[in-house]
Amino acid sequence: MIPEETIQQIRDRSDIVEVVSSYLPLKRSGANHLGLCPFHSEKTPSFNVNAVRQIFHCFGCGVGGNVFSFLMRMEGLSFPEAVRRLGEKAGISVETEAPTPEELRRREETERLARIVEVACDFYHRILIESPEGAPGRRYLKARGYDGEIARTFRLGYAPERWDGLAAHLEQKGFDPRWGRELGLIRPGKEGRGDYDLFRRRLLFPILDSQGRVAAFGGRVLDDALPKYINSPESRLYHKGRLLYGLYQAKDAMRHSGEAIVVEGYFDHLALARAGIHNVVATCGTALTADHARLLKRYAPRLLLLFDQDEAGRKAAFRGMEALLTEGVHPALIDLEPGEDPDSFVQKRGADAFGQRLAAARPALEVFMQAELAARGEGIEGRARAAREVAARIALLPGDIERDLYFKELASLTGVDEAVLRRSASRGEPVPRGVSQAHPAGVGIPITPGPAPGRTPQRAARKTPGAAHKAQQWLLRLMIEDEGVRRKVDEEGVHTLFLDEDHRAVAGQVLDFAGKGLPLDQGLIREPLTPEQQGLLAAVLIQDTGHLAEMGAPLVEDCRRAVEKERLRSRLRELDALIRSAEEAGDLSRLAALQGERMQLNRQLKN
Ligand code: UTP
Ligand code: MN
Repeated sequence: MIPEETIQQIRDRSDIVEVVSSYLPLKRSGANHLGLCPFHSEKTPSFNVNAVRQIFHCFGCGVGGNVFSFLMRMEGLSFPEAVRRLGEKAGISVETEAPTPEELRRREETERLARIVEVACDFYHRILIESPEGAPGRRYLKARGYDGEIARTFRLGYAPERWDGLAAHLEQKGFDPRWGRELGLIRPGKEGRGDYDLFRRRLLFPILDSQGRVAAFGGRVLDDALPKYINSPESRLYHKGRLLYGLYQAKDAMRHSGEAIVVEGYFDHLALARAGIHNVVATCGTALTADHARLLKRYAPRLLLLFDQDEAGRKAAFRGMEALLTEGVHPALIDLEPGEDPDSFVQKRGADAFGQRLAAARPALEVFMQAELAARGEGIEGRARAAREVAARIALLPGDIERDLYFKELASLTGVDEAVLRRSASRGEPVPRGVSQAHPAGVGIPITPGPAPGRTPQRAARKTPGAAHKAQQWLLRLMIEDEGVRRKVDEEGVHTLFLDEDHRAVAGQVLDFAGKGLPLDQGLIREPLTPEQQGLLAAVLIQDTGHLAEMGAPLVEDCRRAVEKERLRSRLRELDALIRSAEEAGDLSRLAALQGERMQLNRQLKN
């Protein structure tokens, strides 16, 4: 906890124009300074920095914030780190405040949880290494060609046959069973029976966080039983979208080689480590996320995806490519023989052959383009489809030159005019946030068009329709300028006047600050607002809106109507589904009632 005054002092002493200028050239343009956005790729500057308000906002991709948010994004810092960094420059030392009792309690709990997974990890590891109970685990590892050294390096473990091995061990160590349950390592017994272990008769892989602390486990059966792997559930220590298996051990090798190889499985990681290839992390059955991309980018500029050479692995690789592209990283794909995974490949062919495959890795988009064109066939419709899919992804490429070359190549392969391809890409339908989750399982190659250039996924995710969105932004602006409008919003409630969570959160922040008598300026840009919400707020703050002064009442009205309309529309969507199911069920009286309601809603909407 950094004291509020210190934060304010540091903010006052820092100049956002100076800070941003140390990263990119800015040109003065009226009240603003303009530059090329460092957070998405663009050719004409839409990145605005306002010296008076001390905020930045990109009209292209929607990011924005104050000097702290800028450093956080640019350098991947946390808020306190950004404050400290600027404090150093300004010569203000940052003394931390004593934490509140609530924070202390939470910190203590988290530490206790961390201790428990450590104890569990040791418990399982000892069994694998030295206990008679661990013999099946040792046999299994040995049969797959792994020795004690790998087991020790990766702190592998074995969960014995007993149903309460860990539960009893933790109890004996004096831990309250409720903590083991919170971690999901222990399950509550039914009907008065005792707790039992999540992992039984499984080889265990501890999943470490980036500091090397155990966060969770994955466990493999020793035979063909299903499920082959189970993992500890997400917990306060474990968020699977933010961790990668082996990251801690791979860090140095990734830094040195400048490359990170992403594989699917625990054993792929072990197999490559055994072959002397250490710059490897595993996704462990979860989709690659933007968080993963940011994490990896810190260690290596070049990413190589090496997924299983089957249909599922291929799909996962292309989805991964999208998640990475939206973070500005264009990965390469490594090809092996069909049906192989890295583990089986290095076993059969050895490390040298693997090295050759590494060297032959191809840019993911090139592979995608080929696969897409082949899959959609020779027909006109098929080619059109392929062209659209590929163009949408080309638009995500970070480099101007690459983009250009890919468009040319796609034009020559499909016979579609290059300019048409570019237009199609820039009109691309926005996709929901978390591109990688947007593809329903079972669909061949991903078919959802990627975001258009100049739009980040965050911006695309904001589904508020144009006019309503504008009205809400103006209303937020007026709230900042006009106490009467604030009072009105407070009385009516943010839920009646703002369509989505993001606008509501920003409005809430404004009311909260005003209530405490705090200035309504760039200081508003901070937690608990999310980075997207902070961007939205910066957009509101950076606009010149003198002309809005007289518009208070009609704007409130517009917003109220937009929210009401959206409520009706969403009920209509619901009704459509209900009507369909009533039709299928042949429930005529229900059908009539639903259709009646639909008619009435449609009438209301028209009015
Ligand atoms: P694989 O089935 O390819 O397993 O799943 P693997 O790693 O190659 O293991 P071996 O060589 O057959 O023993 C890849 C990854 O997907 C996750 C695991 O993380 C696994 O390593 N997975 C797989 C699960 O989480 N649950 C499952 O049931 C299967
Ligand atoms: Mn595999």
